[in-house]
Amino acid sequence: MLRDIFEKTNEYNSMQTAESKKKKGQYFTGLRTAEFMADMAIVKQNTELHILDPGAGNGVLGLSVMQRAIEEGCTQCTVTFYENDNECINLLNQSIELAKRFCLEKGVTVDFVLKAENFILSDDDKKYDIVISNPPYKKLRKDSNESKKMAEYVYGQPNLYALFMAKGMEMLKENGRFVYIVPRSWTSGAYYKNIRKVLISELDIDQIHIFGSRNDAFSAESVLQETMIISGTKSKGQREDITITSSTTGDMEVVSSLSVESDACIGMTEDSYIMIPATEHEADVLKDMSANKSTLGKQGYRFCTGPVVEFRNTDTISIEPKDDYVPMLRSAHVTEGTFRFPVDVRKAQYVDRRNKKVVLRNSPTILIRRISAKEETRRLQMCIYTPDMINVDSDMISIENHVNYLTHSDGTALTINEVNRVFQILSQRKYDEYYRILNGSTQVNASELNLLPVPFNL
Ligand SMILES: C[S@@+](CC[C@H](N)C(=O)[O-])C[C@H]1O[C@@H](n2cnc3c(N)ncnc32)[C@H](O)[C@@H]1O
Repeated sequence: MLRDIFEKTNEYNSMQTAESKKKKGQYFTGLRTAEFMADMAIVKQNTELHILDPGAGNGVLGLSVMQRAIEEGCTQCTVTFYENDNECINLLNQSIELAKRFCLEKGVTVDFVLKAENFILSDDDKKYDIVISNPPYKKLRKDSNESKKMAEYVYGQPNLYALFMAKGMEMLKENGRFVYIVPRSWTSGAYYKNIRKVLISELDIDQIHIFGSRNDAFSAESVLQETMIISGTKSKGQREDITITSSTTGDMEVVSSLSVESDACIGMTEDSYIMIPATEHEADVLKDMSANKSTLGKQGYRFCTGPVVEFRNTDTISIEPKDDYVPMLRSAHVTEGTFRFPVDVRKAQYVDRRNKKVVLRNSPTILIRRISAKEETRRLQMCIYTPDMINVDSDMISIENHVNYLTHSDGTALTINEVNRVFQILSQRKYDEYYRILNGSTQVNASELNLLPVPFNL
């Protein structure tokens, strides 16, 4: 049955343009990935099952679960699909016909319900035993109907896939199974914090699967997002350990399997980031760091981003020193753990002190570059800065926008002792490794630096 569905899917797919796939968020799960997810969904003792597949496309996820359930002895089953793309509904109907034939051969009666409507806007109050989905990835406007309907989960720029996660959780029975294949972006960042809160408080996460390459999960698609599969049971408690598996090819052969303490993985940071270690070593780093129960913020410190955005301040910055101009610290001054000023770059290193919005008191701080080069071994490229390092007597300085700097939370100046102490802590290799697990990109954000766990009494 599943192979026949994929034949029809390939025909359908070949008629779609890359643009229309992107617009609809229509990327089909590969056959092996669908079977892998079905294995994650099935709990052996199910004899009667209500399965929900929102954003069903060709229906492969709901039908993979149905097939596995029948193999496990399930005798009564309904499969409900939500799909709102008229073109794709044709394909889904063909899959349902194939599934009916399969069920007839197996002597099992299954009810298929196709809801040709917008899943997020639907008012179905039925609850399901299994919700399995590959939701559409699509940025939404804050004033879209979907965002308004799910307002409690929206923070900043909403994405349809995260609303599918929240709605799927709402429609899941207590002790029901949740299996989603989604981009990894929801595990970090402020935009997804409300979704994380719901998942962390209502789902007992048992497995997270990560992919070595971005395309492994999808059949013949160029998907640029990093992807993961998450599975769990709807219930209040969180088990002690989570299994993290990974695969590197589309056949889903598991190449690594780690058992990680959930305390080190989930909700360790203030915004409930989900940390996913890929190796034993990374799991050890997380465990080690989970002993630090405070954050820079709680200890009265705060990293901020330099205020000078150059293209907005072209008339008050200068390459050469000038009267009434003060040094502007930029990432070129931070190299290999030391500060050097001025440097030989044809870029501005001075700013007009009358531009009050961007000048700061000249006092000791830590500078961390916002963007590190891929080849640099350390992500946290940082150095200590003290007022005597600019070789000019100036009560004020400024800082360019590609540099983060440390200050007290109330904006008052740091002492050199405080700067030394925080620098000593953040220079430890485990902090660099922790930051890489927290944020997979080469960017270093002030908001994420402020989430770093640190010991009490810094
Ligand atoms: C990423 S595809 C997944 C298809 C299939 N479930 C699979 O795993 O291969 C997401 C599907 O959701 C559908 N979709 C997009 N927005 C939707 C909405 N608001 N309600 C229901 N379906 C939607 C798209 O048309 C697309 O077929």
